[in-house]
Amino acid sequence: MPEQAETYSILFLGDVVGRPGRQAVMKRLPSLQAEHRPLFTIVNGENAASGVGITSDIARDLLRSGVDAITLGNHWARKPDIFSLLNSDAAIVRPANLSSGLPGRGWVVLEKEGVRLTVLNLMGRVHMDPCDDPFRWFNDHESEWKDGHLLIDFHAEVTSEKVALGWHVDGRAAAVIGTHTHVATNDARVLPGGTAVLTDVGMCGPLNSILGMNKDVILRRFLGGLPERFEVAEGPSVISGAVIRVQTSVGRATGIEVIRLQDES
Ligand SMILES: [Fe+2]
Ligand SMILES: [Fe+2]
Repeated sequence: MPEQAETYSILFLGDVVGRPGRQAVMKRLPSLQAEHRPLFTIVNGENAASGVGITSDIARDLLRSGVDAITLGNHWARKPDIFSLLNSDAAIVRPANLSSGLPGRGWVVLEKEGVRLTVLNLMGRVHMDPCDDPFRWFNDHESEWKDGHLLIDFHAEVTSEKVALGWHVDGRAAAVIGTHTHVATNDARVLPGGTAVLTDVGMCGPLNSILGMNKDVILRRFLGGLPERFEVAEGPSVISGAVIRVQTSVGRATGIEVIRLQDES
């Protein structure tokens, strides 16, 4: 059996927004993977289809283009077309702390080069749709992935809840990467117990937008106009992500580096 490397990397890319986000990710993924040589690549795809939800075709395209697992968030069920894929053994997960009986599952185990990495999707409760307490949920389910490493996509709105979950699982996960706000935060660090935490990784989607959406539509809403349908913005995209370095023997992070690239497409 070949000797395991001392450390390995995980590349995580934030919420992919619509076609511009998908195209930017597909275009840049080969060079990002060549540069950072991640053992695992994980992408949040909750906004991949027209800005809300994801379809099976889009999820399969991402998985074929070098993504090892897709996480979702509060928009996980907006395109019911995804339900059959969520119910298959494909590496796509929706928030775990939801009502029982819903399509899909909340975590998936990836295995490469002798490393077992569980990718868990949890959702926050502050300013979010109702869901189970993610803190207690984690404690209640931790024994299910005891024999491997763990990365959590914590899909939540407020920074305090995300920082708190990081401390809650410090020493029990390799990383907690925040998603949902589409705005990257500047607080990536490794906590004393060895958990890398980033409050929000940001999005992969149109740069000249409001959270990936057409800014003129959103501005008209803020200016007190009539309700309008959101649409994905156009123009150059930003690619936001993080690379987490993990110690193979213990599954604890040794570093986290933030990625922000601008694509001209
Ligand atoms: Fe999102
Ligand atoms: Fe979200």
